Amino acid sequence: MKGGSGESGVSRRDFIRTSASAAASVSVLGSVNYGLHAAGSDTVRVGLIGCGGQGTRDSVALLQGVPGVELVAMGDMFPDRLQQSLEILKKEAPNGVKVKPEMCFTGFDAYKKVLESDVQAVLVVTPPHFRSLHFRAAVEAGKHIFMEKPAGVDPAGIRAMLEIADAAEQKKLSVVCGTQRRHTPSYQETIKRIHEGAIGRIVAAEAYWMGGDMLGYWQWYERGSLSEMEWQIRNWPWYTWLSGDHIVEQHVHNLDVINWALNATPEQCLGQGGRQVRNLGNIWDNFTVVFEYPNDVRVTSMCRQINGCMNRIGERVIGTKGVAEVDRGLIKGENAWEYKGPEVKPKELDQQVFIKSIREGKPLSEVKAMAHSTLGAIMGRMSAYSGRALKWDWALKASKLDYTPAQYGPTAHPVDPVAMPGKSELS
Ligand SMILES: NC(=O)c1ccc[n+]([C@@H]2O[C@H](COP(=O)([O-])OP(=O)(O)OC[C@H]3O[C@@H](n4cnc5c(N)ncnc54)[C@H](O)[C@@H]3O)[C@@H](O)[C@H]2O)c1
Repeated sequence: MKGGSGESGVSRRDFIRTSASAAASVSVLGSVNYGLHAAGSDTVRVGLIGCGGQGTRDSVALLQGVPGVELVAMGDMFPDRLQQSLEILKKEAPNGVKVKPEMCFTGFDAYKKVLESDVQAVLVVTPPHFRSLHFRAAVEAGKHIFMEKPAGVDPAGIRAMLEIADAAEQKKLSVVCGTQRRHTPSYQETIKRIHEGAIGRIVAAEAYWMGGDMLGYWQWYERGSLSEMEWQIRNWPWYTWLSGDHIVEQHVHNLDVINWALNATPEQCLGQGGRQVRNLGNIWDNFTVVFEYPNDVRVTSMCRQINGCMNRIGERVIGTKGVAEVDRGLIKGENAWEYKGPEVKPKELDQQVFIKSIREGKPLSEVKAMAHSTLGAIMGRMSAYSGRALKWDWALKASKLDYTPAQYGPTAHPVDPVAMPGKSELS
């Protein structure tokens, strides 16, 4: 078992050694011909919406990993976060950063300004709460979209994402999600073998994101002169209405792999958990959920953000002829196999897949799969919060849970109490 750290949680073998070149990671995609585009005649102009840690890392991955791309516009709620990001980007990818001061936008409407610019594509890397708001605006503006996971925080947001995904498809816009794993050869090869029957009939699976408290990865900011709402947005990972809680924000990576491997979504679930150590925001720090998939396949899902415990990040699929350790690129049993291909940079792969689809005029539509994986995670959270078993159809079609506030702005926004099983209502 491997210990994991940080947010990406992709296993060691998925990272290319730092000395390896971007060209090596390009090669795993097959025939990507960047030569035609490097001269700049069809340079892709990109805008970044959400200039925090991941927005900056995604931009570095884009500019270092894909020739012929320029970052020309940036938008963030907070000026200091945008400036920090711009400084890092100028150091890490000096040739690709072409952001003029007048193309830096801040505040609640920053995303609109980025979308009004002449960018062809945007990276949407804002907190999960804003996903459908920003996705809808980007599709309306006719931009190609790379978006980070998860797809939202509540069933209303997921329904919106599925509807907007249809509009994006009609407009032939490419929409790629920052799943990493779905674009990583070791995962692709392992799951291909599962689908081909290497482990026989699937009978069960396990998904884990057991890690530390994430303080240090994200900060806890003091309030200063911020309004209640701005302060919560500043501290988004720690509030359910903004992050979806860590089962949604983080563990969705593993649940997405399970949906992919099983080629299905859960029919129902029963979860539990709590807040054993955490004392900020209103999210929990541990969940255990059993998801029931078609054909009576049960998936055990565990996620925890508590320091000093054993870490485990990964996915395991159990079949009648063997077991796939998906995160390790390993199949045990009758058809034993181990991935031995080149190691890669998953975040660069995300960006290469995205830009390739734009350049080749072959739009990708990855958002529905991510919306489904996110809904599973949301269901798990709702079941654990309420202490009740939940059905997929109810969550998808009937749940009225919608964390959207009456308005966004520098206003009051009372925090919901920490969920209490047996007392917290389902809606
Ligand atoms: N795929 C991965 O490995 C991975 C890793 C980390 C984070 N993420 C995802 O990336 C997203 C961002 O996470 P992060 O770690 O960068 O967080 P972060 O706090 O470092 O950055 C978020 C940024 O968005 C800005 N922001 C907040 N609300 C905004 C709004 N309405 N409009 C414009 N800007 C706004 C914040 O000021 C901040 O700069 C999340 O969805 C998270 O789940 C993915």
